[in-house]
Amino acid sequence: MLVTLKEILKLAEAKKNAIGCFNGPNLASMRAVIYAAEELNEPVVLTHAQLHEDMGLCKMDEVAPIMLYLADKAKVPVCVHLDHGTDLDYIKRGLDLGFTSVMFDGSALDYESNLANTSVIREISLRYGASLEAEVGSMGAREHGGGESLVNDENIYTDPESARDFAEATGIDALACAFGTVHGFYIKEPKLDFARLKKIHSLVKVPLVMHGGSGVSDDDYAKVIEYGIRKVNYYTYMAKAGAAAVAAMEPTKFYHDIEVAAMEGMKKDVMAAMKVFMRQGR
Ligand code: 13P
Repeated sequence: MLVTLKEILKLAEAKKNAIGCFNGPNLASMRAVIYAAEELNEPVVLTHAQLHEDMGLCKMDEVAPIMLYLADKAKVPVCVHLDHGTDLDYIKRGLDLGFTSVMFDGSALDYESNLANTSVIREISLRYGASLEAEVGSMGAREHGGGESLVNDENIYTDPESARDFAEATGIDALACAFGTVHGFYIKEPKLDFARLKKIHSLVKVPLVMHGGSGVSDDDYAKVIEYGIRKVNYYTYMAKAGAAAVAAMEPTKFYHDIEVAAMEGMKKDVMAAMKVFMRQGR
């Protein structure tokens, strides 16, 4: 069942847990996410990252119809979301293709330009009946599913008062905030700034989103969910699990066997992550 981000976040708020948001750059990863969600009978966000196109992965126009088809047929609520959209035309194309939610990532811009662009996209997304996520502060290196990122750089974390003003002025549905998580593999243990997250949660009235979910401990997950995180973006470890499943295979002559093994490996990892986000342990 295809739903918006706003609808899915209401389900998370009612249960005081978090919804997993997983990338689907190819058919194996899309099926892994949908089948995991159906097996756990849990809502999920299936997302396409703009940056994945630069890595030679599927283009938005290629994956969108399949993402929407799988979401529509799924037995659980599924939001089809555009992750880290950085330019207006691209986001608008995603809305034309039928995405029920988009993220505008203005984290490389100054506060005023981020606010101005987010407000423009808010108006457009409302016309499509789609949800909007935006970001205040920065998670450092962008979504790339594989590289290493700097950690614990407080200069780029979300300022709670600015986040409140931004959310009120733009009318966004969800706010991505930076408090110590980064995309890709961590080069040293992340030290999450829980006091900052708590403050953001006390001031910002929309659900909060945590990016950089791979490599965060289960204890830290429990805390961030307690302090208001309602969506967790997670891809690096899922992709790593797919690769590990392929590496553990008996030699095969057929590519289709590889794809099935990768799908199963990713599905297992997605299910384990979702259980943590549901606060049920692994
Ligand atoms: P990871 O790289 O930690 O899996 O995070 C993915 C993400 O935040 C996508 O937006």
